[in-house]
Amino acid sequence: MPGDVGEVLISEDALKRRITVLAREISHVYADTPRGITMVAVLAGSLIFLADLIRRLPMKMRIGLMTVSSYAGATTESRGAVLGSVSLPDLRGRDVLIVDDILDTGRTLALVQTEVRRAKPRTVRTVVLLRKPGKAPPEVTVDFTGFDIDDVFVVGFGLDYDGLYRNLPHVAVLSSNAQDLDGVT
Ligand code: XMP
Repeated sequence: MPGDVGEVLISEDALKRRITVLAREISHVYADTPRGITMVAVLAGSLIFLADLIRRLPMKMRIGLMTVSSYAGATTESRGAVLGSVSLPDLRGRDVLIVDDILDTGRTLALVQTEVRRAKPRTVRTVVLLRKPGKAPPEVTVDFTGFDIDDVFVVGFGLDYDGLYRNLPHVAVLSSNAQDLDGVT
C-alpha cells in the first residue's frame, strides 16, 4: 500500500473542517424546503463523503443510490461513464442534491444529471468533494465544491485505484509507479 500511495493532498482534519462548512452552506440554501431533500449518491466513490456530509445536515432527507463506473481495473484513464444499478425513491417534484466524490472529465455527472432530470424533480443541485477545474465541459456544473485540486489522480476518502484505498482517511496522490499498470503494453 505505501508504494502506491504518494503524498497526502488533503488531511483528515482539513476534510472534516471543509465538510462542516459545506454542510452549513447547503443547509442555508435548503432552509425553506419543508418537505426535505433527496440526496442521490453516486457510488462507490461518494460513500465516505456522503456519510460525513449527511450527518451534518439537520433536515429531513431521503437517500437514493446510483452506481456509475468509469475506470476498469488498474488505470487512471477514464473509459467513459456507464450507469450500473439504480435505487432511487420517487424524484418527481422533489428537491434533489446529487452527491459525488469528484468532478473530473464530467462524464459521470453528465450522465447522472441527465438521468435525474428525466425523473422531473423540482430542483437539481450537485455537490462534489473534489473538482479538477477546467476539465469538464461548461454544461456540466456543480453548485457546491469541497476542494479544487490539480489534475493529479487521487485516492482515499472513498476514491479508489483498481478498487483499493477507499478506506484511507485522507486524500492522497497516487504515486506515479502505481499508475496505468494495465496500460503498459
Ligand atoms: P469523471 O471523469 O467522469 O470522473 O468526471 C468521475 C468519476 O471518476 C472517478 N475519478 C477518480 N477517481 N481519483 C479517483 O480515485 C481521481 O483522480 C479520479 N478522477 C475521477 C471517480 O469515481 C469519479 O466519480
